[in-house]
Order: sequence, then structure tokens, then C-alpha cells
Amino acid sequence: MLRRLHHDQPASFAFTPANQAWAEAEMRKYPEGRQASAVIALLFRAQEQEGWVTKPMIEHVADMLDMPRIRVLEVATFYTMLHLHPVGSVAHVQVCGTLSCLLCGSEDLISVCKAKIAPEPRQLSADGRFSWEEVECLGACANAPMIQIGKDYYEDLTAERLEWLLDELAAGRQPLPGPQNGRYAAEPLGGLTTLKDYEAGRAPHNAAVTLAVERGDGMKRIDGTEVPLLTPWLTKGANHNPGAAAAAAPAAPAPAPRVEGEKLKPVRKPGPAPKKPAAAPAPAAAAGEGRKPEGIAAPRGGQADDLKEIEGIGPALERLCHEMGIFHFDQIAAWGPEEIAWMDGNLKGFRGRISRDKWVAQAKLIVDEGLEAFRIRAKTNDY
Ligand code: FES
Repeated sequence: MLRRLHHDQPASFAFTPANQAWAEAEMRKYPEGRQASAVIALLFRAQEQEGWVTKPMIEHVADMLDMPRIRVLEVATFYTMLHLHPVGSVAHVQVCGTLSCLLCGSEDLISVCKAKIAPEPRQLSADGRFSWEEVECLGACANAPMIQIGKDYYEDLTAERLEWLLDELAAGRQPLPGPQNGRYAAEPLGGLTTLKDYEAGRAPHNAAVTLAVERGDGMKRIDGTEVPLLTPWLTKGANHNPGAAAAAAPAAPAPAPRVEGEKLKPVRKPGPAPKKPAAAPAPAAAAGEGRKPEGIAAPRGGQADDLKEIEGIGPALERLCHEMGIFHFDQIAAWGPEEIAWMDGNLKGFRGRISRDKWVAQAKLIVDEGLEAFRIRAKTNDY
């Protein structure tokens, strides 16, 4: 499937303060220097805020995670749970069109979408409330055909049932997700053949549906007004709603409500959320190792090299280099083990990046053979 950014893009993107705090907490779940692991979580949260993934949003997330923007674009264009186009304000219907669903009637579901929403995929309905698209297998093949709306799966569908679902959504009601033909989960259509003893005492709905009902956020946009907005991995129920946080700041730690994930070991004590992920000060010994490279006060000729050409250097690392007087490829190419050790110990939250990403080898290649040759070789990490 060809997935491209939408032709009409907003000028900018910013997380709401509460979502910004949530994103920073998410980034702190990973070891220093591995914040890129949070890319999907941040993109999805940003999508929940705005409804779809925009180019400024991709750039914003890339800058937060110190990732090259192309890497974040690659993620955004790969996963169909990330919408690259404006979607209906009520629901964006993703119809699985892969083998099991195709054999079980997904074409009928698509016909319903064409008739009731819009003739073309990724086209908004006339009132802007609905949109649809066909996607690849969503992993619920035993309950084919199925669709995804927001966070919820609707399975074992027929054309008539989908029409009913869309009518319910249009009327402002959220139908119960899960199998739509009376099946409990993915047991045989004729009913259980084994484990029948468990049938009598089971919950009214399967675990996924029960969770969806409990949370009730299948299609909800996360606009930052939620109270509480939980980051359970940060001690007990830390609430990053700015107003609530301000009110709670002076108070002694009160008994926190029991929240999901309460038992998770906190990665870091909660505190005032910094604008960027808090960079742990490098251990004193590490920061003192090696020899500081010779820096210059300003770029030669007033024009710095684009250090981001070096694989592994993003906007944040480039800024740090500038702060240390490093503006040019030849400066990096001249580093020896002592300079690398010093830089590795002083690059705040990015220790080890220089060795791991072979900055010096890359810089030498650029200096010796020029940028064009470097770019060709960089495609295969040939440096
Ligand atoms: S084929 Fe549709 S969910 Fe797998």
C-alpha cells in the first residue's frame, strides 16, 4: 500500500502541556540514549490529540527523540494505525482486506463503506464525520471479516451489521466491540468443544472487550483535559495535568489512588517535567575522562557544516556539539580516543553515541571523499 503524507499540512504542531508531560514520561521509560524507542508511543499520542499524523508532528517527535526526521517518517508511513490523512471526526473505519477477511466477506464491508461514508478510501464523508480505508491483516483472522475503529476491533461482521454499527456511531452511541455474531471470542462457530467447564463462570465479555468497556476510550481523542492523565510507571498515579500538578505540588505525598501498573518499578522519581527528556548528569568519573577536543568560538566563514549528515546526529546532538565549539566535519574527523572519551562523557544524555555510531569514521569519509560519496556509502553503513 502506498502511504504518503497528505498534500495539505498544518503549519505547526505542539503537544498540549499534559500530553507533553506524558510524552516526556514515556521517553524516560527507556535507558538514556535509547529514547527513540518511544517513537510509536509519541506518534500515536500525537495522533490521538490531532486525529491524524502531520508532517510538523513527525518533525516535532523526531526533534524530541533526537532522531533523523526521515526515520520517524519511515515509522509513520509503515504502520496503518498511524493515519497520514485527515480522518472523520466520529470514526475512521479500517477494513481488513487480507486473505481470511477477503474470503469471509470484506468486499461487502467495503461496499458498505463506499455507500455510507465516501466512494473513495481516505475521503471524508460529506459531513466530515466518517472516513474509511482498506488495511492489511489486523491479526484477528479467526474472527474474519473484521474492522478496526480507533482502538477497538469489531469482528465477525456482515454488511448489515456494519451498516447498523455506522448508524449507531452516527447517533453518538458506541457499540460493544468484539465479535458481532454472538461469539464470545475465537472459539469454533458451533461453540466450545473443549474446556467447557470454564464456560459457566466466565465474565460476560472476553478480556479485550471487557477492557474496552472499562476504558471507554476506543475513539476518544486525548486533548489534555483528561483527569487523571496517568503515567503509572512513574510511581503511583502521577498526574501530569498541569493544574492538578500545581495544586498538588506543595502537598506531602498523599496516599495515591491505586492505578493500573502501580506495581511497576518507577524508573525515575516524578518531578517538574523538563521541556526535553531529563538528561541524567554523566557520572563524574566518566565526564572527567579523556581530553576535551579543541573547539572554536564560531563556525569558520560563518557557516557550520550540517553535522546531521552524520548518521546518529540529530538536531539535539548538533546543538550540543555547537555548544562545545564543534561546527565542522574535520573537527570530528580529528578526534582520537581521548577526545572521543571526553565527548562521550560530556554529551549529557547521549553517552556512547560517538563510538556506537562511528562519528569519527563517518566524518573522515566526508572529509576525504566528499559528501556525495559519503551519502552513497552511508546507505550500506560502509564506513
Ligand atoms: S485477514 Fe483480516 S484480520 Fe487477518
